[in-house]
Amino acid sequence: MAPRRTKVYEGKAKILYEGPEPGTLIQYFKDDATAFNAQKKDVIEGKGVLNNRLSEFFMSGLNAIGVPTHFIRRLNMREQLIRSVEMIPLEVVVRNYAAGSISKRLGIEEGTALPRPIVEFYYKDDALGDPMVSEEHIIAFGWASQQDLDDMVALGLRVNDFMSGVMMGVGIRLVDFKIEIGRIWENDYQRLVVADEISPDSCRLWDIETGRKLDKDVFRRDLGNLADAYTEVARRLGVLPRNANNVTKPTLIN
Ligand SMILES: Nc1ncnc2c1ncn2[C@@H]1O[C@H](COP(=O)(O)OP(=O)(O)OP(=O)(O)O)[C@@H](O)[C@H]1O
Ligand SMILES: [Mg+2]
Repeated sequence: MAPRRTKVYEGKAKILYEGPEPGTLIQYFKDDATAFNAQKKDVIEGKGVLNNRLSEFFMSGLNAIGVPTHFIRRLNMREQLIRSVEMIPLEVVVRNYAAGSISKRLGIEEGTALPRPIVEFYYKDDALGDPMVSEEHIIAFGWASQQDLDDMVALGLRVNDFMSGVMMGVGIRLVDFKIEIGRIWENDYQRLVVADEISPDSCRLWDIETGRKLDKDVFRRDLGNLADAYTEVARRLGVLPRNANNVTKPTLIN
């Protein structure tokens, strides 16, 4: 029997284990869904399998067009090998259409096209409810440098271009999304890479024809079966075989 792996971190949606070589981690996708800063919780059977596949799909696509990510390769149904990075404690949100907090805060009707993609930063702190912060706050408190900020905006916009195009190709509107970014050190030189996950947990995805929501809002707003929505996204992207009807009862092969 292989020795039990060392758990590095357990979050709400994923577990990180030590990887097989220095500088790597194994990211395990759980079925747990949380919303509203974990006040709403449930287990959605199959969600972890879908997000593992979808994050692989988006991250490997980004790697292929030269947008650096932490993704190395998928290991099995629920796990992927990633590069260990020093996380920047910010969430980078890119919005193409108004929805969620921007609609509430600024009184813009959900679905309104924004004049251009808008990049926002949120400070990752569950106790504070991940508050929105300005570039001034970020620099003053030393969460990132001005150079990092410029790089983060550029990364966010490149991810937006890629993701918008891919989703549009399968009849889905990328309303907004969130990424997390980390630093990789190469000697004294640092490079920023897209880390964490890119999945329907971290995007707003609306069917272009019908407006049907295909993202975590299905869970937040009790709009139906979350796994069905994610399965639809995966099917359209060709990430799952078209006749896969058993994704909610996966066999985990380690
Ligand atoms: N490549 C990476 N290297 C190191 N840490 C990473 C990497 N990618 C993601 N992480 C971190 O791993 C954790 C993933 O777990 P999960 O998303 O479940 O956390 P969470 O419950 O959302 O909590 P948090 O508030 O820490 O994000 C997150 O803290 C995320 O920032
Ligand atoms: Mg998270």
